[in-house]
Amino acid sequence: MQKPKILFVCLGNICRSPTAEAVFRHKAKDAGLDVFIDSAGTGAWHQGETPDPRAMAAGKSRGYDFAGQTARAVQDIDFEDFDYILAMDRKNLTHLMDRAPKSSQARLRLFLDFSQQNMDEVPDPYYGGANGFEHVLDLIEDASEGLIKHLKQKS
Ligand code: 4NP
Repeated sequence: MQKPKILFVCLGNICRSPTAEAVFRHKAKDAGLDVFIDSAGTGAWHQGETPDPRAMAAGKSRGYDFAGQTARAVQDIDFEDFDYILAMDRKNLTHLMDRAPKSSQARLRLFLDFSQQNMDEVPDPYYGGANGFEHVLDLIEDASEGLIKHLKQKS
């Protein structure tokens, strides 16, 4: 496979998918995997904003870098550009499936399909406390490792 292009998607693109972008970029680099990574939201309310300070504080304390990230909404061209579009929860996956043009070759999946954990959605931490952001990181770290294994098998 050519350099895989992966888009992580949540609702606002300020908490979960920017965390997935930062964690996966770090882990893919450590694993020597050459990938293109981006993230986006199914909603556009936070367009242009940097990630939520709570998500960045939790991620930075585990060594992840959020530099250069700004929120954007999913665009039609994403369905042609990306090989994998990975949703944080079922609602976002349904939104993506409803919107994907027939011509799209992108694999639309739940990100936690690649996880060993017994969960299929990354819970929305936006209205909760700090431990919600730690849980998001735990799930995303696990799924990132699974996705790296998957991509290595294909390369
Ligand atoms: P995210 O979290 O989808 O993980 O970025 C949210 C961010 C903002 C909102 C909801 C979820 N919001 O309702 O504004």
